Amino acid sequence: MHTIALLTALVSAASATKLGFNYGSTFTTGAAKMQSDFEAEFATAANLKGTKGWTSARLYTMVQGGTASDPISAIPAAIKTKTSLLLGLWASAGDAAFANEILALKAAIEKYGDDLAGLVDGISIGSEDLYRNSPQGIAAGSNPGVDPDVLVKYIKQVKGVISGTALDGALLGHVDTWTGWDNSSSSIVVDALDWIGMDAYPYFQDTMPNAIGQSKSLFQAALGKTQAAARGKAVWITETGHPVSGKESGDSVASVENAEKFWKTVGCPMFGNINVWWYTLRDAAPDTPNPSFGIIGSELTTTPLFDLSCDDVEVEPSSSSTSATSPVASGKPTSTKPAVANGSATATTDKTESKSTTPAGDGQDASSSSASLEKSASLVSPLVSILTSTGVASATGSGSDSPSGSPSSGSGVDSGSNPSSGPGSESSATGAASTSPTPSSTAAALPDSSAGGLEMGLVGATFVAIIAAVIFL
Ligand SMILES: *[C@@H]1O[C@H](CO)[C@@H](O)[C@H](O)[C@H]1NC(C)=O
Ligand SMILES: *[C@@H]1O[C@H](CO)[C@@H](O)[C@H](O)[C@H]1NC(C)=O
Repeated sequence: MHTIALLTALVSAASATKLGFNYGSTFTTGAAKMQSDFEAEFATAANLKGTKGWTSARLYTMVQGGTASDPISAIPAAIKTKTSLLLGLWASAGDAAFANEILALKAAIEKYGDDLAGLVDGISIGSEDLYRNSPQGIAAGSNPGVDPDVLVKYIKQVKGVISGTALDGALLGHVDTWTGWDNSSSSIVVDALDWIGMDAYPYFQDTMPNAIGQSKSLFQAALGKTQAAARGKAVWITETGHPVSGKESGDSVASVENAEKFWKTVGCPMFGNINVWWYTLRDAAPDTPNPSFGIIGSELTTTPLFDLSCDDVEVEPSSSSTSATSPVASGKPTSTKPAVANGSATATTDKTESKSTTPAGDGQDASSSSASLEKSASLVSPLVSILTSTGVASATGSGSDSPSGSPSSGSGVDSGSNPSSGPGSESSATGAASTSPTPSSTAAALPDSSAGGLEMGLVGATFVAIIAAVIFL
């Protein structure tokens, strides 16, 4: 008898997940994007052939290009085009620059109030700042970033600013590479947040086997690591993607064909099940970077470079907890990231250079942590993400173990790098990733009664959570 309510809850919760792209604030010429530019990009995303629902936009900065602290014109563009927003405050350019981000946030609240509040999916304090201050980020020339304590200070500041305003209660998060999260020093940041944004790019993991066929398992391993670090908090995929052109990275080849494979194997199973901001719709323009991640190229068009439909994607039944684990456990994943420009307001470029990082392995016992990660990645995360996306709970962390292997989703492992550059450019991908299996795989994973009490307990917990969701909805 509860079946219908249950299904209804699942369906509506699933449709409440976000699909979007990352949007920089400037062009490669250094010119700031204006409201009309953002409107054109948002409209293009919403009308992309073969897709539906790509109506969220992740921003890196609150500040309009060319100004000190005016709110970014992506906001009125989003209001006009009914695009939801994952707002971002650039945190790696020092306290004075962060103060300008805060001023722009305050000004945006004052100017757009409830119109803005109705569109906010979340607010990210920072983007890959931890990665930038890690040995890999430093070796890659990406720093300066900021340390965990500074992020915590900034997060508290934002919490104070939105308190009592139209944005009170907005979900606060931070976006970093999975390697940035997979570091015990980052736990104080996790503790201060509502959600964790993960950036993962198997393409950049050039120190391990990373041909396109490995992408899914690499992504899942990264997601598992991030979910373990998140300790039950929601993980959103804030950046992931595969380049349509550009240089090779390890075994990974940048091509339209491989970008399509990545979209179908890593992307499709997640879409609708977990919040995803893909990297990216239109790469930095007008100068095409190398590698280039834009699925439509550099010119705005609703005709993508490859087929974006997920209809013909086969859902893998169950799959691979072992294969997903092994990459991280055994190898030394290294990732390369494109250069990230400095947080300075003038940062305009994107990923031009890639740098490599060595994520896992660094001193940590990768195998044990990845094992637990794997588990949490499989079943719990989809539920957590579904529930959190409906605002019901981020607290499902409870069941951190999922019985059956991880479903299909691909989460990403990113090597910690990202294509992004300063606030201007679009790039850092984030992706919170809870991997979520596609609906059908979830179904397969859940009820498998052959499992033991743990599984049943999970099912029970899930049921309770769903009932709670029904009540909330
Ligand atoms: C872990 O995080 C701390 C603080 O951000 C940083 O100093 C350290 O280099 C990181 N370690 C690794 C291996 O990335
Ligand atoms: C970062 O910003 C500092 C200060 O503005 C500048 O000196 C430095 O060259 C920048 N680094 C990069 C990589 O752009």
